[in-house]
Amino acid sequence: MTESREVNLLKRISMTNMIPVWLKLMLLGAVTAAVAAGPQDTPPPSGQSLYRRRCVMCHGPEGKGFPALKSPDFTDPKWQASLKDKDLVEVIKNGKKETHMPAFADKLTDDEIKTVVAHIRSLGSKEK
Ligand code: HEC
Repeated sequence: MTESREVNLLKRISMTNMIPVWLKLMLLGAVTAAVAAGPQDTPPPSGQSLYRRRCVMCHGPEGKGFPALKSPDFTDPKWQASLKDKDLVEVIKNGKKETHMPAFADKLTDDEIKTVVAHIRSLGSKEK
Protein backbone atom coordinates (compact mmCIF):
# COMPACT_ATOMS: atom_id res chain seq x y z
CA MET A 1 0.00 0.00 0.00
CA THR A 2 2.63 2.48 1.12
CA GLU A 3 4.93 1.40 -1.66
CA SER A 4 2.48 2.02 -4.46
CA ARG A 5 1.73 5.39 -2.89
CA GLU A 6 5.39 6.25 -2.99
CA VAL A 7 5.70 5.10 -6.56
CA ASN A 8 2.71 7.20 -7.43
CA LEU A 9 4.25 10.19 -5.73
CA LEU A 10 7.51 9.68 -7.58
CA LYS A 11 5.64 9.46 -10.84
CA ARG A 12 3.79 12.64 -10.04
CA ILE A 13 7.01 14.48 -9.20
CA SER A 14 8.69 13.32 -12.33
CA MET A 15 5.72 14.42 -14.42
CA THR A 16 5.38 17.85 -12.90
CA ASN A 17 8.44 19.14 -11.12
CA MET A 18 11.19 17.27 -12.90
CA ILE A 19 10.29 18.18 -16.48
CA PRO A 20 10.46 21.93 -16.05
CA VAL A 21 13.88 21.66 -14.38
CA TRP A 22 15.03 19.62 -17.33
CA LEU A 23 13.77 22.23 -19.77
CA LYS A 24 15.32 25.00 -17.77
CA LEU A 25 18.67 23.26 -17.87
CA MET A 26 18.34 22.71 -21.60
CA LEU A 27 17.47 26.35 -22.18
CA LEU A 28 20.33 27.43 -19.98
CA GLY A 29 22.63 25.21 -22.02
CA ALA A 30 21.34 26.70 -25.28
CA VAL A 31 21.81 30.25 -24.05
CA THR A 32 25.30 29.50 -22.76
CA ALA A 33 26.20 27.90 -26.10
CA ALA A 34 24.87 30.90 -28.02
CA VAL A 35 26.89 33.29 -25.87
CA ALA A 36 29.99 31.11 -26.19
CA ALA A 37 29.59 30.97 -29.99
CA GLY A 38 30.13 34.72 -29.94
CA PRO A 39 30.63 37.08 -32.88
CA GLN A 40 30.41 34.45 -35.65
CA ASP A 41 26.74 34.05 -34.93
CA THR A 42 25.88 37.74 -34.75
CA PRO A 43 23.83 39.17 -37.62
CA PRO A 44 25.58 40.84 -40.59
CA PRO A 45 26.90 44.38 -39.98
CA SER A 46 24.31 47.14 -39.95
CA GLY A 47 24.28 49.95 -42.50
CA GLN A 48 25.49 52.27 -39.80
CA SER A 49 28.52 50.18 -38.89
CA LEU A 50 29.42 49.69 -42.56
CA TYR A 51 29.08 53.41 -43.12
CA ARG A 52 31.29 54.16 -40.12
CA ARG A 53 33.93 51.79 -41.38
CA ARG A 54 33.92 52.63 -45.09
CA CYS A 55 32.34 56.00 -45.74
CA VAL A 56 32.62 58.20 -42.67
CA MET A 57 36.08 59.55 -43.48
CA CYS A 58 34.82 61.20 -46.65
CA HIS A 59 31.15 61.78 -45.84
CA GLY A 60 31.29 62.66 -42.14
CA PRO A 61 29.57 60.99 -39.17
CA GLU A 62 26.26 62.72 -39.94
CA GLY A 63 26.66 62.52 -43.70
CA LYS A 64 27.07 66.26 -44.10
CA GLY A 65 30.10 65.79 -46.31
CA PHE A 66 33.29 67.85 -46.55
CA PRO A 67 33.50 70.89 -48.85
CA ALA A 68 37.20 70.26 -49.41
CA LEU A 69 36.40 66.83 -50.86
CA LYS A 70 33.23 68.01 -52.60
CA SER A 71 31.30 65.17 -50.97
CA PRO A 72 27.56 65.89 -50.94
CA ASP A 73 25.40 66.68 -47.90
CA PHE A 74 23.30 63.55 -47.33
CA THR A 75 21.13 65.44 -44.83
CA ASP A 76 19.98 67.90 -47.51
CA PRO A 77 16.40 66.99 -48.58
CA LYS A 78 17.14 68.32 -52.04
CA TRP A 79 20.10 65.97 -52.37
CA GLN A 80 17.98 63.07 -51.03
CA ALA A 81 15.29 63.80 -53.62
CA SER A 82 17.77 64.07 -56.48
CA LEU A 83 18.75 60.40 -56.52
CA LYS A 84 16.79 57.16 -56.52
CA ASP A 85 17.89 54.15 -54.46
CA LYS A 86 19.11 52.45 -57.62
CA ASP A 87 21.27 55.49 -58.43
CA LEU A 88 22.83 55.27 -54.97
CA VAL A 89 23.50 51.57 -55.43
CA GLU A 90 25.07 52.33 -58.80
CA VAL A 91 27.38 55.04 -57.41
CA ILE A 92 28.43 52.94 -54.43
CA LYS A 93 29.17 49.97 -56.67
CA ASN A 94 31.04 51.79 -59.41
CA GLY A 95 32.22 54.97 -57.77
CA LYS A 96 32.29 58.26 -59.64
CA LYS A 97 34.94 58.85 -62.24
CA GLU A 98 36.95 62.06 -61.93
CA THR A 99 35.97 62.36 -58.25
CA HIS A 100 37.24 60.92 -54.97
CA MET A 101 34.22 58.61 -54.67
CA PRO A 102 35.65 55.08 -54.86
CA ALA A 103 33.94 51.94 -56.21
CA PHE A 104 32.83 49.38 -53.63
CA ALA A 105 31.67 46.58 -55.93
CA ASP A 106 34.53 44.32 -54.84
CA LYS A 107 34.42 45.37 -51.16
CA LEU A 108 30.73 45.20 -50.27
CA THR A 109 28.08 42.61 -51.13
CA ASP A 110 24.81 43.67 -52.75
CA ASP A 111 23.06 43.21 -49.42
CA GLU A 112 25.63 45.34 -47.64
CA ILE A 113 25.22 48.08 -50.24
CA LYS A 114 21.46 47.94 -49.68
CA THR A 115 21.84 48.41 -45.94
CA VAL A 116 24.28 51.30 -46.49
CA VAL A 117 21.76 52.95 -48.84
CA ALA A 118 19.12 52.58 -46.13
CA HIS A 119 21.52 54.22 -43.69
CA ILE A 120 22.11 57.14 -46.07
CA ARG A 121 18.33 57.55 -46.33
CA SER A 122 18.06 57.58 -42.54
CA LEU A 123 20.64 60.40 -42.41
CA GLY A 124 18.33 62.38 -44.67
CA SER A 125 15.25 61.82 -42.54
CA LYS A 126 17.07 63.01 -39.42
CA GLU A 127 17.12 66.56 -40.86
CA LYS A 128 15.65 68.93 -38.25
C1 HEC B 1 37.77 58.60 -50.42
C2 HEC B 1 36.61 59.34 -50.08
C3 HEC B 1 35.25 58.66 -50.18
C4 HEC B 1 34.85 57.48 -49.61
C5 HEC B 1 35.67 56.52 -48.77
C6 HEC B 1 33.46 57.35 -49.93
N1 HEC B 1 33.02 58.39 -50.69
FE1 HEC B 1 31.17 58.66 -51.47
N2 HEC B 1 31.76 60.33 -52.35
C7 HEC B 1 32.99 60.91 -52.24
C8 HEC B 1 33.02 62.17 -52.98
C9 HEC B 1 34.18 63.11 -53.11
C10 HEC B 1 31.75 62.30 -53.58
C11 HEC B 1 31.25 63.43 -54.49
C12 HEC B 1 31.46 63.04 -55.91
C13 HEC B 1 31.00 64.15 -56.81
O1 HEC B 1 31.75 65.09 -56.96
O2 HEC B 1 29.89 64.03 -57.34
C14 HEC B 1 30.99 61.14 -53.15
C15 HEC B 1 29.68 60.91 -53.53
C16 HEC B 1 28.91 59.93 -53.03
C17 HEC B 1 27.51 59.76 -53.32
C18 HEC B 1 26.65 60.67 -54.17
C19 HEC B 1 26.87 60.51 -55.63
C20 HEC B 1 26.08 61.52 -56.39
O3 HEC B 1 25.94 61.30 -57.58
O4 HEC B 1 25.62 62.50 -55.82
C21 HEC B 1 27.09 58.68 -52.62
C22 HEC B 1 25.69 58.09 -52.60
C23 HEC B 1 28.22 58.17 -51.91
N3 HEC B 1 29.31 58.94 -52.18
C24 HEC B 1 28.18 57.09 -51.08
C25 HEC B 1 29.28 56.58 -50.41
C26 HEC B 1 29.22 55.42 -49.58
C27 HEC B 1 27.97 54.64 -49.24
C28 HEC B 1 30.48 55.19 -49.14
C29 HEC B 1 30.96 54.05 -48.26
C30 HEC B 1 30.56 52.72 -48.64
C31 HEC B 1 31.33 56.21 -49.71
N4 HEC B 1 30.55 57.03 -50.46
C32 HEC B 1 32.67 56.30 -49.49
C33 HEC B 1 34.06 60.42 -51.54
C34 HEC B 1 34.09 59.22 -50.85
